[in-house]
Amino acid sequence: MITLSIIKADTGGFVGHSAVHPDMMDGARRAVQRAVAGELLVDGHVAACGDDISLIMTHTYGPDSQLIHSFAWDTFKTTTAVARELGLYGAGQDLLSDAFSGNLRGMGPGYAELEFEERPSEPVICFLADKTEPGAWNLPLYKIFADPFNSAGLVIDTKMHAGFLFEVYDLYEEKAVLFDCPTDLYDMLMFIGAPARYVVHSVRSKALGEVAAATSTQRLSLIAGKYVGKDDPVMFVRCQSGLPAVGEVLEPFSFGYTVGGAMRGSHHAPIMPVPAEDAHPARFDGPPRVVALGFQIKDGKLIGPRDMFADPSFDEARRQANRAMDYLRRHGPFEPHRLPLEDLEYTTMPAIADRIADRWTPISGPLVTTGPQTDAGRTR
Ligand code: 13P
Ligand code: 13P
Ligand code: MG
Ligand code: MG
Ligand code: MG
Ligand code: MG
Repeated sequence: MITLSIIKADTGGFVGHSAVHPDMMDGARRAVQRAVAGELLVDGHVAACGDDISLIMTHTYGPDSQLIHSFAWDTFKTTTAVARELGLYGAGQDLLSDAFSGNLRGMGPGYAELEFEERPSEPVICFLADKTEPGAWNLPLYKIFADPFNSAGLVIDTKMHAGFLFEVYDLYEEKAVLFDCPTDLYDMLMFIGAPARYVVHSVRSKALGEVAAATSTQRLSLIAGKYVGKDDPVMFVRCQSGLPAVGEVLEPFSFGYTVGGAMRGSHHAPIMPVPAEDAHPARFDGPPRVVALGFQIKDGKLIGPRDMFADPSFDEARRQANRAMDYLRRHGPFEPHRLPLEDLEYTTMPAIADRIADRWTPISGPLVTTGPQTDAGRTR
């Protein structure tokens, strides 16, 4: 059995929240090289999307391993130190706790992990996103594993035809539910269509009994109790041989669908699939970006990556995202560009509401008058 873990954190942005500094990447790469040499990891690759560093690692310790999580924590401490030295923005942004205790749950970094028996050929796509939240994977996961207009295999491939089990988390109440698709499709959409709260955590093939997809499902603002940046998410999807083909896994990203998390974590904006070298959100700290790194895993080694969105067939999605960004930006501070109040209530809204609390009065007449008041002209 091999475990694939992607553990990620924002430990400082260069410049603002747009990218990771090369010196931080070097520090993380050196740590991963040492961990491979010291046989903690079978293999490792360091990548970034926007200001978030991802450690893509294979090892034999299973999910939630103290050894692996503390290695990631220490690595993020190292990159934080580099960020501090260079005065980078938000150094240590996602490290919410001072001391590591057992595993990373509730500590700030995000992680997607899965233990599995490596198949003779094991193609995996690792997705990294910035300026959005874990629920951003709901729409593509639905399309990949439940929509035959996206994935031909749901009709053609007998193993996919049997359907998939979606494990969905309620991030507000910390509980989970399984949806058996296609039977439960409509029930499931009721929930995962609200991605700020309900998040697909994993997807399992019914025919193979194998987990095919895993996501990071933390929610920083709920952990920290105030706004500390959206938890820019990661996920990976295993492909082929009874699971969706690579092209079916990438296909949902040909549409620049709208996600929450741009500018101050408080705006909806279209997600833009980009090659790694373009994953540096700048305009209005956006549009949100997604990178797809393809690997073949062989004896635990990460053969790759291939930069899957470095492909002109995603040019239209990028153009569409730019056009949608123009459209949404013109709303300024209005919904639906700005997130709905329920979401801001977990962030910046309460302080403002408190400050003006005693200025509210019952609705009984006009508060502002410009001259002598009469009833003339009133229609009710
Ligand atoms: P090739 O014929 O290039 O191997 O492609 C097979 C396939 O089914 C791709 O979806
Ligand atoms: P990050 O979550 O990527 O740090 O972005 C924060 C933000 O608010 C950018 O406007
Ligand atoms: Mg940041
Ligand atoms: Mg980020
Ligand atoms: Mg964010
Ligand atoms: Mg072929």
